[in-house]
Amino acid sequence: TPRVFSGIKPSGGLTLGNYLGAIKRFVGMQGQMETIYCVVDMHAITVWQDPKELANMTREVAAGYLAAGLDPSQSILFNQSQVAAHAELGWIFNCVARVGWMNRMTQFKDKAGSNAEKASLGLYAYPSLMAADILVYHATHVPVGEDQKQHVELTRDIAAKFNHDYKVDFFPATEPVIEGPAMRIMNLRDGTKKMSKSGESDMERINMTDDADKIAKKFKKAKTDPEPLPETVEGLASRPEARNLVEIYAALDDTTPEAVIAQYPGAGWGTFKPALADLAVAKLAPISVEMARFMDDPAEIDRILASGSEKARAIADPILKQTYDIVGLLRG
Ligand code: TYM
Repeated sequence: TPRVFSGIKPSGGLTLGNYLGAIKRFVGMQGQMETIYCVVDMHAITVWQDPKELANMTREVAAGYLAAGLDPSQSILFNQSQVAAHAELGWIFNCVARVGWMNRMTQFKDKAGSNAEKASLGLYAYPSLMAADILVYHATHVPVGEDQKQHVELTRDIAAKFNHDYKVDFFPATEPVIEGPAMRIMNLRDGTKKMSKSGESDMERINMTDDADKIAKKFKKAKTDPEPLPETVEGLASRPEARNLVEIYAALDDTTPEAVIAQYPGAGWGTFKPALADLAVAKLAPISVEMARFMDDPAEIDRILASGSEKARAIADPILKQTYDIVGLLRG
């Protein structure tokens, strides 16, 4: 049976990239399949996090989930550290995955930069824990943005090697679900870099908590080339900044880049940027108001996460126990 799992790291405030590449699509899958959405706090600490801030950000990601329309009665919503089976299966997968596979992970290279010797061992092993997040539920579908594709492919490799080494047909081959116009939203100041939570300037990203003025200002200042919009999407080909703004518009409006270009053929930035800002405010403002409302009641968020964790454990624990039996780890 199909089962969806995905997660977001509470390592900074939620961005428009997280919303369009992940949360909005999580909401779209709710009700269609069994859905499990996690705040992956143990992934966040692969880079040092201030403890108070980590707790706060964990609640903020949960508030983003709830405000965008995830419903704890339809989806399991929880934080990773409350379900110990993730870490336990993660260790077993550390013993299945090969060092050579980890060495090919481009995100580690990006994050560790030229100083890989100083990166935490956790940052290096992170994709193996991510495979455990997914496979401890036998999840079959993982909605993610483009940057996570390699990690989901590694998850398939780990499942296949485990099945092969232990001569079982136990872990399923997981499908990454990467579709729609917003799978890689770019930085507003540099169309060759991904929009991320941790980029240095706040002007390069839209945060889910930004107010209308900030959103308008950031789109107005977004870098573009001087040319107007083209008459057809082919004209966006070597124009990364222009393409990014059109893709953001399309994703926010549930349409395609083709339709956006057809609506604004040859438009100048003086026309398109304010239209994009208005659309973004219309879509995001109600969510940010709801997020603030949830953040006013942290105890309620904690209750929702605790109750989701209980439901998550009910699925994960039996799968972990079976894994222990397959591997030959004794248990009482
Ligand atoms: P994270 O926290 O960096 O991002 C969360 C989700 O948001 C997507 N995303 C984007 N999509 C489009 N454009 C962008 N600029 C953009 N920035 C982020 C990401 O692709 C992701 O879907 N390793 C994961 C978290 C994770 C996970 C998992 C995901 C841990 N375990 C198991 C799925 C299943 C991460 O760091 O995502």
